[in-house]
Amino acid sequence: MIPGDDVSDYDLVVRGGTVVTETTRRTDIGILNGKIAAIGSDLQGRETVDASGLLVLPGGVDSHCHIEQLRPEGGTDEETFLSASISALAGGTTTVIPFSVQFKGQPIRDTLAAYHRLARNALVDYSFHQIITDPTDAVIAEIPEIVASGIRSLKVFLTYDPLYLDDRQYVRVLAAARRAGALVTVHCENYEAIRWRSAALVADGRVAPKYHVWSRPPAVEREATHRAIALAELVDQPIQVFHVSCSEVAEEIARAQARGVKVWAETCPQYLVLTSADLDRPGFEGAKFMCSPALRDAATRDALWDDITSGVLGIVSSDHSGFSYDGPRGKRMNGSDAAFPDIPNGLPGIGSRLALLFSEGVGKGRISLKDFVRLTASNPADLFGLAPRKGRIAVGADADLALWDPTKQVIITNALLQHAIDYTPYEGMAVTGWPVMTVLRGRIVMRDGTVQAAPGSGTFLPRAPYDFIQPAGVLADGFDASAFA
Ligand code: URP
Ligand code: ZN
Ligand code: ZN
Repeated sequence: MIPGDDVSDYDLVVRGGTVVTETTRRTDIGILNGKIAAIGSDLQGRETVDASGLLVLPGGVDSHCHIEQLRPEGGTDEETFLSASISALAGGTTTVIPFSVQFKGQPIRDTLAAYHRLARNALVDYSFHQIITDPTDAVIAEIPEIVASGIRSLKVFLTYDPLYLDDRQYVRVLAAARRAGALVTVHCENYEAIRWRSAALVADGRVAPKYHVWSRPPAVEREATHRAIALAELVDQPIQVFHVSCSEVAEEIARAQARGVKVWAETCPQYLVLTSADLDRPGFEGAKFMCSPALRDAATRDALWDDITSGVLGIVSSDHSGFSYDGPRGKRMNGSDAAFPDIPNGLPGIGSRLALLFSEGVGKGRISLKDFVRLTASNPADLFGLAPRKGRIAVGADADLALWDPTKQVIITNALLQHAIDYTPYEGMAVTGWPVMTVLRGRIVMRDGTVQAAPGSGTFLPRAPYDFIQPAGVLADGFDASAFA
C-alpha cells in the first residue's frame, strides 16, 4: 500500500481517523496530486492532519440542489454558485448536481451555456441535470448533443406551471433519453389534481400556508409516481423519482423495482425530520416549510426511515431550493398574506443535509454509518455516473473528504449554514455530529467552519455513458417505438 519510503511520499496525509469505506477502520490516507494514493499505516506527507477521534467520510455528493437556477419570470435563484458552494463545503459536501433549465421556446444549448458561465464561480465540483420544459422537435433534436457534452441526466416536472409536461411530452423525453443515453429524473405530482384542489381550497377561503399540504395529499404524488414508472417501463428507459415524501409512494417504487424496472428514488432530510404541523406555525411562518411534495404528518415521516433502510430510497439529497423569507425573490414576494398557491415552494438545505441525516439517522440508530455514506455519497455518485472518481474513499478516487466529529453537539442556526437564504427551517434544532474539515481534491477547503477556496476552483464533471442508464432490454412486443419518435 505504501509507495516508496521517502519521508514525504504524499502531499497530504490524513492520519489516524476512522475511515469509512467498505470496511470501517482506523488508518491513514495518503493524498498525492489531488487523488487518494494510499490507504494504510504510517504514511508520511509534506502536510499532516491529525484525524484521531474523527470519522473520515467521502465528501458528500448532493445530486439534487437548485443553485442560481434561472427563473421563468426572469432573474435567478438567490443562492449563487459562490454562496451555495460555501454552505456545501461548510457542511461536508464537495460535489453537487444542480439544474440547467430550458424554458419554452428556448434552445437547450443557450440555457446550458449560460449555466456553465454562472457555474464558473463554484468552489465545489459540479455537473448538471438538464430540465426540459418544452420538448418540441427542435428541442428533442438537441438532446444528443447536450448529453454527449457530459450532461447524462434530464429532468422533467409532471406539475408546476410553466414547467410541467403532459404524458405525450414526457414519453418523448424518455424516448430521447433512451436514444441519447441519459437518465431521466422526475418530479412526480399530478398537475391537474393539484390545480383542482387548490382552486377549491381558495374558493373556500382556505389560503394559509398549511393548506398547501391539503392541496397535494399523498395520492397526488402516488398517482404521478405510478404513471411516471409505467411510462418509463413502456419506453424501457431508466428513471429516478425525486423527493419521495412517504411510504405510500415508496411502495409504488418497490413494486416496480421487484419487477426489474430500472427505477431508483431519493428522499430528502425535510421529509425525515419536519412535519406538516410546521406549516401551521403562527402568522405566515408556515411559508418557511412549504415545499413540494408537501411535508407529511409525524407518523408518515417516521415510517419513511424504513424505506431508506430497505434500500428502496437509495439517496438522500437536499433539494436545496432557497427562497429567503424576506426580499423581492423570497417567500413573501407576493405579500405576507399571499394565498398558498402564490408562495414559492422549496427549502434551503445544502449545508444541513449531512448533519441532519447523521444526527437523526446514525445518532439515533436508524441507519448505520455505512448506510449514511451510501445514501449521501456513494449511491448518488454511482447513479449519476460520477464513480469511481467521486463518492468513495478508494485509491485512485479524488481526495474529497469530510472529517467528521461524531460527538460534536451543535444547535443549528442560520448563520452557521453560511448560505444566502435568510432562514433555515431547522433553526434551533440540536444535532450531534458535525464536519470539522472538508478536503476537495486534496486541498483543505474548510477548517472549523471557515471556508477557504478560490471562486472557480470547482470543476465541471462531464459524465460518460455508464451502466445505470442502459435500458433493461424489456420492450412490449419487442417493439422499440423510441426509434421512430
Ligand atoms: O418545493 C420544491 N421541492 N422546490 C424545488 C423544486 C422542486 O420541485 O424540486
Ligand atoms: Zn421537484
Ligand atoms: Zn428540486
